[in-house]
Amino acid sequence: DHMKSFLQELPKCEHHLHLEGTLEPNLLFKLAERNKIQLPSSFPKNIEECSKRYASFEDLQDFLNHYYVGMSVLITEDDFYDLAMAYFTKAEQDGCLHSEVFFDPQGHVERGVSVDLVVKGFDRACRDATKKLGTTNKLIMCLLRHLPASNGMETIKSVEKYHQQGIIHGLGLDSSEKPFPPGLFIDCYKEIKQKYPNVGLTAHAGEEGDYNYVIDSLDKLGASRIDHGINSKQSNELLARLAKNKTMLTMCPLSNVKLQVVKDVGELPINLFLQSDVPFSINSDDPAYFGGYILDNYISVHTRFGFNINQWAKIVNNGIEGSWCDDKRKSELK
Ligand code: HPA
Ligand code: ZN
Repeated sequence: DHMKSFLQELPKCEHHLHLEGTLEPNLLFKLAERNKIQLPSSFPKNIEECSKRYASFEDLQDFLNHYYVGMSVLITEDDFYDLAMAYFTKAEQDGCLHSEVFFDPQGHVERGVSVDLVVKGFDRACRDATKKLGTTNKLIMCLLRHLPASNGMETIKSVEKYHQQGIIHGLGLDSSEKPFPPGLFIDCYKEIKQKYPNVGLTAHAGEEGDYNYVIDSLDKLGASRIDHGINSKQSNELLARLAKNKTMLTMCPLSNVKLQVVKDVGELPINLFLQSDVPFSINSDDPAYFGGYILDNYISVHTRFGFNINQWAKIVNNGIEGSWCDDKRKSELK
């Protein structure tokens, strides 16, 4: 219909998507068979059972427990390539012109998969997506905050050459937010900032943790944007700071509902962020698990908030400005 095609045509950018979270049940079961992976008996047996399991998660941890088992079917470079290529294809159909995507190397290395084939598979898909679809993209490596920072440092060392080659463009922090505050990872962020000043810094904060997680991500990690960040609503002083510094929050409406951060998209502090001039973008997080890609997330917001053309123009413009691409690409996106 009209609303959907209007939202489809907006020049959208994705800033908060975990590639491992795009693993659709059909690909998951196909790879489990191809790689002879025996999934635990508690895991859904087929696509139908997946849709029941994914109807709702108790909280972030309940989802993560499932997500780490799901990704265990990814073994070969082609698996990582196929996963990312399926995502880029879907994103292009949704009218997403630029994607900055997370991956979790520790989730694979822990299971004995080499970090090299993870990065090579994902990077090859990134290049092919640009060649075949004309969309642009960047890889952001995330550290798992439930693992020790020393493991994060080893992970950073293990991908040194991909930083030098400009294949990894950002550093993020994900997994169980509480009780793993940003301050635990000061050295990891410092290492990247000193060695690779062009690499963007972000961190998940203020999804389940309170607004102090956001403040610490800015002060202690030097993050230039914040993933989720919705609990910034708890502090007017923080909102003013985000607005003044144009620090973008990468919101994920359908994720917040599925993980029971809010009961309904309409409860998200989107009007507060708009009124406070806090830039935000609208994103997918783990679309295979949360029931929708970027366009579905835009639709969910439009259905609740009914923004007009000028408001949407401001939202997508903030998304372009908050992207980590160069000014030339930004002007093409507008
Ligand atoms: N939050 C934290 N870690 C994650 C998420 C999330 O929403 N998705 C995948 N890893
Ligand atoms: Zn996330």
